[in-house]
Amino acid sequence: MEEKIKGLRHQAVSEIGAAGSAEDVERLRVKYLGRKGLVNSLFSGLSGVPSDEKPKIGNMLNELKGVVAAALEDAKNKIGGPASSSKIEKLDITMPGIKRPLGHKHPLTQIFDRINEIFLNLGFKIAEGPEIETMYYNFEALNIPPEHPSRDAFDTFYLVGAVHEPPLLLRSQTSTVQIRVMESQKPPLQIIAPGRVYRPDATDASHSFMFHQVEGLMVDKDIKFSDLKGVLTMFAKQMFGEDTKMRFRPHFFPFTEPSAEVDISCVMCKGEGCRSCGQKGWLEILGAGMVHPAVFEAVGYDPKKWTGFAFGMGVERIAMLKFGVDDIRMFFENDLRFLRQF
Ligand code: PHE
Repeated sequence: MEEKIKGLRHQAVSEIGAAGSAEDVERLRVKYLGRKGLVNSLFSGLSGVPSDEKPKIGNMLNELKGVVAAALEDAKNKIGGPASSSKIEKLDITMPGIKRPLGHKHPLTQIFDRINEIFLNLGFKIAEGPEIETMYYNFEALNIPPEHPSRDAFDTFYLVGAVHEPPLLLRSQTSTVQIRVMESQKPPLQIIAPGRVYRPDATDASHSFMFHQVEGLMVDKDIKFSDLKGVLTMFAKQMFGEDTKMRFRPHFFPFTEPSAEVDISCVMCKGEGCRSCGQKGWLEILGAGMVHPAVFEAVGYDPKKWTGFAFGMGVERIAMLKFGVDDIRMFFENDLRFLRQF
């Protein structure tokens, strides 16, 4: 009997020690400690043991039971279940993590987002148009006569390879979207059109052959110049701060009448005069005016019934003022040392 107990103890410990999964451990628990398990079957052999040896054998059996139970517990801890908590305790959460460099929005995109947000809050909707355009949308429908200098190849990129007569071009202004929107929608309407425009200018600190504009257009009954002023003043205050002043200078655009160029008080010197504003105290940010009747006629709106205003602002210009950037080329060079600053 003693031999049997020792043998079973040896067998159980080595078998349980080799268990590789929670199922193994459970199977072994049933095998050894189950109601009909091997340990119990030895207990039932106790009746056949001479009575003077019974206490000793009884003790050995109880001890065997304890050893097997401990071995099962160890195996369970080693494999999983409660053991995972001891793994978590080994994780030092005070160790600095591995930083993943997350990108962020390009400074121009940030400005676009802000401009869009301001106008969306005023009830404007966002409209889009193609960058490759026809002469009709870029000039004709906008009341720009054939002899107008902006049609010159020095001021507009023409797509010479395109089999298209008259030739296609890269839009030189987002005003094209005014026409496309009015052709497809009935008044009243209120849209802004953000997008890229192209002009064959020699590149320098303030010129790029590609830049961005946000066009605005509002058409309804009885829209007045004061509405234009109100909307733009609100925009400038939200964009550049409450103390920003605006100035409307008479100007000429073929598609608006009257027309104005709009300046804001210099954000650097607050109007005192500094290098950024050329000592003028003012910075030009957009062109604007009341929609010309000829434009309404081109899209089939009755100019006696409808009035409206339009504006077009330079996004790089605004970004340069907001971020204090003095060279437009920085936005397009993709230099991370520059981009990471915003
Ligand atoms: N399209 C003009 C430009 O690019 C700006 C403008 C838009 C002016 C709308 C008046 C009205 O200079």
